Amino acid sequence: MKFTAQKGDFDSIQCDVLIVGMFEGEENGFTKTVDDQLKHELATAIKNKDFVGETGQLKLVSTLGNLAAQKVLFVGMGKKSNYTLEQLRRAASSSLKVARDTGAKRIVTTLHLLDMKESEKVVALTEGMLLGNYRFSQFKLEEKKKEKNVEEVIVVAEDMENARKAIEKAEVLSTATLHVRDLVNMPPNIATPTYLADEALKLKKLGVKVNVYDKKELEKMKFNAMLSVAQGSAQEPKFVVMEYGKGKELYTFVGKGITFDSGGLDIKPPKMMEDMKSDMAGAAAVIGIMEAAAKLKLPVHIIGAFPTCENMPSGTAYRPSDVITAYNGKTIEMMNTDAEGRMVLSDALAYVEKKFKPSVMIDLATLTGACVIALGYWATGMLSDDDKLCEELVAAGNETYERVWRLPLWDEYKENMKSDVAEVRSIGKGFDSGTIEGAVFLQHFVDKVKWVHLDIAGTAWFNADKHYFSRGGTGVGVRLLVKWLEHRVGQ
Ligand code: BES
Ligand code: MG
Ligand code: ZN
Repeated sequence: MKFTAQKGDFDSIQCDVLIVGMFEGEENGFTKTVDDQLKHELATAIKNKDFVGETGQLKLVSTLGNLAAQKVLFVGMGKKSNYTLEQLRRAASSSLKVARDTGAKRIVTTLHLLDMKESEKVVALTEGMLLGNYRFSQFKLEEKKKEKNVEEVIVVAEDMENARKAIEKAEVLSTATLHVRDLVNMPPNIATPTYLADEALKLKKLGVKVNVYDKKELEKMKFNAMLSVAQGSAQEPKFVVMEYGKGKELYTFVGKGITFDSGGLDIKPPKMMEDMKSDMAGAAAVIGIMEAAAKLKLPVHIIGAFPTCENMPSGTAYRPSDVITAYNGKTIEMMNTDAEGRMVLSDALAYVEKKFKPSVMIDLATLTGACVIALGYWATGMLSDDDKLCEELVAAGNETYERVWRLPLWDEYKENMKSDVAEVRSIGKGFDSGTIEGAVFLQHFVDKVKWVHLDIAGTAWFNADKHYFSRGGTGVGVRLLVKWLEHRVGQ
């Protein structure tokens, strides 16, 4: 699907579907121009309350040769006072899908021309269409052949240069996000730790430096907590470090990369295990962030790292009550093999801080089911001692609509993580505050660096289609953290 910007009379561009937006109860210049040529079909629909412009309303009209477009799609944008970029993303997604399903190849949109600054609207419009158009159909061989596809989207614009730049930017962000979705949706027999490492290596062609450490090297490096998780699996573990750019500050991202989480000996019940191929969504997001930053040529120095392995039960698997000495020398009393994410991250976080001395370290992890219970699917859990960083991430989250919600990391929560035999227990002692306890554990492996933990257990995977998300991986993290980086470098 190719996006182009075009200036001039929107109603004289030849196309299959012309998309026109309307705020609730408010006809505008675009609707009027079109409706005059459609013999007032819209006016009649409004009179009959058949279409009033409510959020989500769509009305498809054949032009019968009265317009350069074959069809016009009127899109309800809701009340003008409630209008946001997210409304635009959602409307762009639903109208693209309707147009696509009519078999349209070439569409023209004026949707983004309602209200607000042009270039940020073009970004949101393009994102909404590209993200909404996504289908994971590579293994549905017959269905894939029959799929309908829009070939060209013409974005009507005033300021052509800005519109082109906005399109390009949204294309980069969306492509990286869809890449993350593909990685998360890929079945775990294919998306193994080695596969993820190879995906990272592909970024070399964008100028990203990539180092992959294999099992032997990890043993030498004393990544014992990570290796204890991997020891139950036939898949070789990998630790991947990617680096892009230069600058005074160094920003680092660390992602949890469990390619399948069976729970290990503390095995998950079937329903809880079904979607556990998504347990590498943090690692996939880190790949997506590196890809987007490199393609956008952001003037930043960033390192993305991820430990990746499988969590499986077997005769060689780690056992509850094992004591393991982590990379930073701390002893862990490992009390539940299903709390594997914090084990692999403990080594990775300590290593990244010690080796690279970054200004900021942010981890992304599908860490706890408790986070899904607490926040559901519309907020990433955020835990940190750094108020300023949290504020920045909340702002970036509101702009991109990849919203984050802070949970406390107070000293009182630390009590439960004390072990009788080692320096720290890997899980708490009850069923309370599981997400916070996950973060408290990780904090034992972070020394002085400014650090934020993002628990994406609820936001990385959707069980049903919703707006511009389809069932499966969401690609969360890329747009959020690229936006945050942009703010950091004053863009
Ligand atoms: N990968 C899971 C967390 C998860 C659950 C992510 C549901 C997405 C959806 C993690 O490894 C896990 O199993 N956590 C345990 C921790 C517990 C044993 C302290 C959990 O949440 O039950
Ligand atoms: Mg687990
Ligand atoms: Zn897990």
